[in-house]
Amino acid sequence: MRVVILDNPQQVSLFAADRVDRLVRERLLVRQPLVLGLATGGTPLGLYKLLAERHRNDGLSFRGVETFNLDEYVGLPPDHEQSYHFYMHDALFRHVDFDTGANHLPRTWQCDLSESAKAYERDIEQRGGIDLQILGIGTDGHIGFNEVGSSLGSRTRLKTLTRRTRQDNARYFASIDEVPTMALTMGIATILESQSIVLMATGAGKARAVAGCVEGPISAGMPASALQLHPDVTVIVDTDAASELLHVEYYSDSERVRASLIR
Ligand code: F6R
Repeated sequence: MRVVILDNPQQVSLFAADRVDRLVRERLLVRQPLVLGLATGGTPLGLYKLLAERHRNDGLSFRGVETFNLDEYVGLPPDHEQSYHFYMHDALFRHVDFDTGANHLPRTWQCDLSESAKAYERDIEQRGGIDLQILGIGTDGHIGFNEVGSSLGSRTRLKTLTRRTRQDNARYFASIDEVPTMALTMGIATILESQSIVLMATGAGKARAVAGCVEGPISAGMPASALQLHPDVTVIVDTDAASELLHVEYYSDSERVRASLIR
């Protein structure tokens, strides 16, 4: 795993935006399709803002790019303000130039959920898989909505949210009772099939989960630790989220050496 520790959340967003920007432009140049995996929540908002700005001011185009989101709540219609369909439209899709039909989220409204989960896996496979997956991390170490105890071999499926996740997300709802209890989420195996993965985390509240993800034993009790099995993961964190990592000095040295080689 590459661990990049930056001073603040703005730098975390900038680093992730540069990575996405580079990949989008490279693929456009060689006219190859690109599939991005996207996350919702508070963490990637700065990234989406930067991508929208670069589209407006710097010629970054998303034509030919397809996206698959990690998850969607069950029980909210797509036009509900707290649905992830709404979030993505509002935070990114409406600001840039994706082709019509290029943005995919799991269907959870008025449909057969197990069929929907299978269709989502099929759709990802038909596009040749995800090239770059953006992830956040829950305070309990979930990725997507793969909560504690999720099988490391799991595929897109229905998952019950933990109380902690519902409490964490209650800030977006009038009360915790309004937070859905279930979601359809890509599985851990689905996520691990992405070509590369960028996990973003900011704030002291994520420190324990980040430490478990990067340095803990691989365990279904800390779903993000499964990322240690993937050969191309970059964990981008601010100093608060890095505060429980044991090997900070080594990660920083590695980044310095890398920068001196690239220069
Ligand atoms: C969202 C998702 C979740 C979030 C995680 C962190 O699509 O899959 O795993 O990334 O809950 O959320 P924030 O960024 O709000 O702390």
